[in-house]
Amino acid sequence: MLKLGVNIDHVATLREARYRGLGRGEPCPVAAALACEAAGAHGITAHLREDRRHIQDRDIFALRSALQTRLNLEMANTREIVALALKVKPDIVCLVPERRQEVTTEGGLDVVRHRRALAVTRKKMNDAGIEVSLFIAPESKQVDAAAEVGAQFVELHTGRFAESCSAKGRAQAELGRLITAAQQGHECGLRINAGHGLNYVNLRALFSVPHLEELNIGHSIVSRAIAVGLTKAVREMRALMRGYPRPVTR
Ligand code: PXP
Repeated sequence: MLKLGVNIDHVATLREARYRGLGRGEPCPVAAALACEAAGAHGITAHLREDRRHIQDRDIFALRSALQTRLNLEMANTREIVALALKVKPDIVCLVPERRQEVTTEGGLDVVRHRRALAVTRKKMNDAGIEVSLFIAPESKQVDAAAEVGAQFVELHTGRFAESCSAKGRAQAELGRLITAAQQGHECGLRINAGHGLNYVNLRALFSVPHLEELNIGHSIVSRAIAVGLTKAVREMRALMRGYPRPVTR
C-alpha cells in the first residue's frame, strides 16, 4: 500500500503569519497532525528550517510526544539541527538542501558533492535508531551517491514533474526520469519515497513510477482543507492513492 505522509509546515506558516515570536497561536500544527492521523495519514512530516520560518522547535518536541504514527523530520545537514534531531529522535529524518531566499525546498540535495558530510550524519542518525532519507532529484549519479552514503530511503523530488504536468510532452520526460531513478534506487537496495508539488490532479500520473512506499504531500492537502476540512482533504488523497498498483510478488 502506498503510504501518505502529510507535511504540516503550511499550518505553521499560517500561525507564524500572525503570531511570529509569541510562542503561541493558531492554527496549531500538532492539532492538525492529530486530525491527519485520525483521517488515515500514515505519518507526519515537518521541516524545522534553520530560519524557523514556520515549524518551531516546540512544535517538533510536541509532535514527537503526541503522534501515534511516524514523525518524519525534514532538515538541513547542519550541526545545530543535527543535534536537535538527536534529542527529538524522530522515526526518520529526510535531509534536504536549504537556502534562505527560497519559498520552499527548491532543489534536491547534491549528494555527490556532500557525500562525506552526509555519510557522517547518516551514521549518527542510524546509531540513534533513526532512519535516514535523502531528498534528491531523479538523477542517476545522485541515486548512486545516496546508496554509497548508506541511506535507507531516497525521496525523489517530484517538483519538476508537478510543474510539467500542464505540458504533456515534458510531463512524459519528467515521469521517465522518476521511473528510471526509482528502478535504479530499488536495485541499489534503497527504499523509495517521493514528494513535492503533488496534488489531487497530478497524483494519478505518478502511478507509473514503480517501488514507491510513501508520498509526502503538504500544500495541496492544507489548501484543500480550507474548502472541505482537513479530515476530508486527507481522506480524499488517501482514496486517490489506493489506485497505486501493488508491487508484483514473485
Ligand atoms: N518533501 C519535501 C522534501 C519537501 O521539502 C516538501 C515541501 O516542504 C514536501 C515533500 C511537500 O511538498 P508540497 O508542500 O509541495 O506538497
